Amino acid sequence: MRALTDIKTLIMPKNTKGMKIGILTAGGDCPGINAAIRGVGKTAISEYGMTVYGISSGFRGLVDNLYSELDEGQLSGILTLGGTILGTSRDKPFKSDPTIENKVPKLIKKNYDDLGLDALVVIGGNGTMKTAHRLSKEGLNIIGIPKTIDNDVWGTDVTFGFDSAVWIATEAIDRLHSTANSHKRIMVIELMGHRAGWLTLYSGVAGGGDVILLPEIEFDMEFVGRYLEKRAKSLKPYSIVAVAEGIKKPKGVSAATYVSQAIREMTKLETRETILGYIQRGGTPTPMDRILATQYGAKAVELIADGQFGVMVSKSGERIIPVPLEEVGGKVKLVPSDHSLIRKSRKMGISFGDRKM
Ligand code: F6P
Repeated sequence: MRALTDIKTLIMPKNTKGMKIGILTAGGDCPGINAAIRGVGKTAISEYGMTVYGISSGFRGLVDNLYSELDEGQLSGILTLGGTILGTSRDKPFKSDPTIENKVPKLIKKNYDDLGLDALVVIGGNGTMKTAHRLSKEGLNIIGIPKTIDNDVWGTDVTFGFDSAVWIATEAIDRLHSTANSHKRIMVIELMGHRAGWLTLYSGVAGGGDVILLPEIEFDMEFVGRYLEKRAKSLKPYSIVAVAEGIKKPKGVSAATYVSQAIREMTKLETRETILGYIQRGGTPTPMDRILATQYGAKAVELIADGQFGVMVSKSGERIIPVPLEEVGGKVKLVPSDHSLIRKSRKMGISFGDRKM
């Protein structure tokens, strides 16, 4: 009787056995990255017989040759782990000093070749996909995997990390209700999201927010104040205001502080601010993020086995498909101001700080 490994060797497409692939994580971390690393690594090793190298600290690891082989043991037990076992950085290899020739991309290509890599899987957000595209033009075989709590990567319905962050932010908003009610206060909570309002919109609606302020919708502070005054004068003892960190505001002040102070001065109502911060990025991924990250990881390796490079794996409805990095790089997916969740929320009386109700 043949051993299982022999059978695998027989059915394994010949050209993948012995292939070497690298994997790195760049940009801000988020829940689900380790699930994606595991998806890539386990599929590559057990299905295709590839050797997998984990590259440390984002693109810096490719410049400084910081890598080690990932075996099945290192890929076990990381599905539920927050953060990234590889470490990350926001290093941008193409950000060059205009006065000197930027040698970093060439060095990355040299180190990639010296290591004998056949492909490189890059897990990251918008900035990372832009770098991935440029490296692919330098001749590296790249597959991108989109991740971020911001959900703002162009070309995919959703990024992993988002569902976990929405869950954490919603729980935080839930907890504000009782204390707001006890003190009859206006609670202003600031959520992350960079320039996009996805996290604030979803957690704001899920947490029963009364006012939701997004970077994508121009709001009028005076209108917000009058709206909250009207609520206070009616039978509503308190209000919850969910604010995205990326809203238009004066420099040097947080979004929550700006909005909270403006409401207080305008209405004389008592306000309090909460800035949720990095709690939104930490900890174990939700089941949906684990599943999405696993699907992305496995698909990335299937594409490598097929010799399809220069693409990012993406979710489109129920399908996981490749989209060209060329179409993704440099773009940001913002919330459309006529998003169906916004339209439906307006019908329920939720204010987005503009005059439309
Ligand atoms: O992109 C994820 C994110 O958490 C944004 O929501 C936030 O604006 C940014 O990263 C914070 O970046 P850093 O980790 O560099 O402080």
